[in-house]
Amino acid sequence: MEDFEEEQQRRKKPRRGANGFDAAAAAERRKRIDAERRQLPAWAARDQLLSLLQQHRTLVLVGETGSGKTTQIPQFLVNARFGFGSGTGQTSVKPRAANGVDQDPGDAGPSTSGRGQANGAWGGGGGNCIAVTQPRRVAAMTVARRVAEEMGTPLGQKVGYAIRFEDATSPATRIKYMTDGLLLREALVDPALSRYRVVIIDEAHERTVSTDVLLGLLKGVQALRGDDFRLVVMSATLDAGRFVDFFPGAVAGLIRGRQYPVQVMYTARPEDNYLDAAVCATLQVHTEEPPGDVLVFLTGQDEIDSAERLIKDKLASLPRSQPATVGEGAEGAGEGADGADPSAPAPAPGGPDSLLVLPIYAALPPEQQMRVFEPAPPGVRKAILATNIAETSITIPGVRYVIDTGYVKSRDYNAKLGLESLAVVPVSQAQARQRSGRAGREGPGKALRLFTEADFGQLEQTTPPEITRCNLASVVLQLKLKAMGIDDVLGFEFMDPPPRAAILRSLELLFALGALDAAGKLTEQVGQRLSRLPVDPMYGRVLLAASDMGCALEAVAVVAMVATENVFHTPRAKEKEWRSARLKFVAREGDHLTLLNVFRGFSELPKESHKARTQWCSDNFVNIRALRKAEDIHTQLLRFLGPPSPPGLGLPLRSCGDDPTPLRRALAAGLFPHAARLQPDGSYRVLATGRQVFLHPSSVLLDRKPPALVFSELMHTTKTYARDATAVEPRWLPELAPTFFAAKAPGQA
Ligand code: CDP
Ligand code: MG
Repeated sequence: MEDFEEEQQRRKKPRRGANGFDAAAAAERRKRIDAERRQLPAWAARDQLLSLLQQHRTLVLVGETGSGKTTQIPQFLVNARFGFGSGTGQTSVKPRAANGVDQDPGDAGPSTSGRGQANGAWGGGGGNCIAVTQPRRVAAMTVARRVAEEMGTPLGQKVGYAIRFEDATSPATRIKYMTDGLLLREALVDPALSRYRVVIIDEAHERTVSTDVLLGLLKGVQALRGDDFRLVVMSATLDAGRFVDFFPGAVAGLIRGRQYPVQVMYTARPEDNYLDAAVCATLQVHTEEPPGDVLVFLTGQDEIDSAERLIKDKLASLPRSQPATVGEGAEGAGEGADGADPSAPAPAPGGPDSLLVLPIYAALPPEQQMRVFEPAPPGVRKAILATNIAETSITIPGVRYVIDTGYVKSRDYNAKLGLESLAVVPVSQAQARQRSGRAGREGPGKALRLFTEADFGQLEQTTPPEITRCNLASVVLQLKLKAMGIDDVLGFEFMDPPPRAAILRSLELLFALGALDAAGKLTEQVGQRLSRLPVDPMYGRVLLAASDMGCALEAVAVVAMVATENVFHTPRAKEKEWRSARLKFVAREGDHLTLLNVFRGFSELPKESHKARTQWCSDNFVNIRALRKAEDIHTQLLRFLGPPSPPGLGLPLRSCGDDPTPLRRALAAGLFPHAARLQPDGSYRVLATGRQVFLHPSSVLLDRKPPALVFSELMHTTKTYARDATAVEPRWLPELAPTFFAAKAPGQA
């Protein structure tokens, strides 16, 4: 597990420069990056943007993906020390240096804050920080890393990022990349968002639930803050008019980008299996097309892992078309196998060794995420296997070919059934166009769509905002928080209001959980507390119940594990091994207790012995990164529940030891809306909705199905699957949630 070692190294000495390169190499790299930056379209628009922001409180900014919006605009603002609002009598835009090139304060040495305070612009009416929201965690992290490097500061200082359960910022932070969900949480605690001078809602076209709620809340922030506060809404593909209409006095701005023509090709017939088709298409481009990197859009980690394996297998069987002089590094290159002239141009791509397959998705370790941005060695073609993240959030240099499977993983919610699902669905036409466009950023490109032209015609024009198709329980709970003063959730000013049925349904759920009283007000005992916990309201309720039932320590560990993705390592080639390793954790009560066993096993190891921990994880086929993450979440949740001062709720944190019953009851007390009973055919029926569901194949309960269970969530693929299930006693349900079961399931008990 070398990346673990690497990370330890990194933690020990604060990094200077790039990825641990020596000082000279880092300086060289920064020079190159600096030159690249200044070529970005955003730079040409810099002064105009700053002056627009001086005159208007809201700027809606549209600019081609890759034009430098996300990485450059926050830097412009910081380097110009904002230059608007109270405290600024002087010119806002820094005069250009004689050579016509701006000197960034970061480059020049003295700290921005020092100089800023001297001229009085910083901290004028409040806040000296810029928040830049991203719908995706990966984007927040990779962009922050990049911008820190551009500014020549260690990540977490002047430039930082924050995502749920992870905060890489400090009091020195001026540019904070964060998920939209996190800024929403901050807005609950501080409705004026007083830490921030500017909020940038990036990737606004994605219209995530958090972005949409934030947009509504930001109107309130503007009213509170007046001229001290600026809002920038940006995106590559945005209906700017709608946003300008939504924010009074807003102005639209455009960054003119470059876009080269992209030749779009369709398949003649529909593909049976888009994954296989994507693998074939990648190899076809690799063997037949002139140099240029390939970007392949897939839907998730599993698919990306399979595709990577398939491509590598097929590559291994390709005939070697030239001596393998180039591999992952370029060590052998130029050595001249067969006495080839070392100065000869690099071999054209085609040979198996000259394709470098690089995955990028959210759960990938950061070091590996950053690898996709590194240029390939000469003669090597990169094939980047990406989720939707590469559609607009990140731009990977060098891409000339795009392969679009035409699918995306997307959340959906059926308000009537209360069924939330994460399903693979066809993209919209707008998404397909945006994906193809990624091939034409640096020169003419080609896009291969793995569907027919007729199918394209059938796609939706655009994707409806997520808020119109999701479970709103968290959102409604947050809007109900007193601090926000928005008691009438149905009257909240949304850009696109969610369906009334969905709001009503979440109000019902919150009522059933005890978070709202009959008048729709947040209850003190449950509602107020739930809204402060950074977990789904049902799991929040589990935590509260657990503290009453004397098993808070166990429940916190379970919730931390549930919140962690990719705990288990399940390589197909070693299925026998990992299945047998899993056995020793299996709890007959179900998946939650199994996860608890894994967590306990890991935390019993001596913390300081990295070797022991690494070895244990590798022996047991669990992912050390995931477990360290779970450990982090565990610590934070304990802080949320424990100490009786904010953020702590002051709840008793006790352990139930080896008795599983209290924990099962606590799970039932929160997850009862997801309670289901076994049917004669082996499926389950959700009590609240009557829906038929199947136990997920990964569940430990699969071969000893209990008469009743509660589960975390439903996943809809070919069937509707219940994930993370725990056996419960049927009689507990009416006991723990009397109103819910009396009203919902007459005759079902
Ligand atoms: O936000 P927008 O799509 O307008 O562009 P950006 O994300 O600011 O990217 C500007 C440039 O920085 C692009 O050419 C990216 O390839 C580059 N970049 C990079 O090389 N490495 C990163 N981690 C992020 C951006
Ligand atoms: Mg961007």
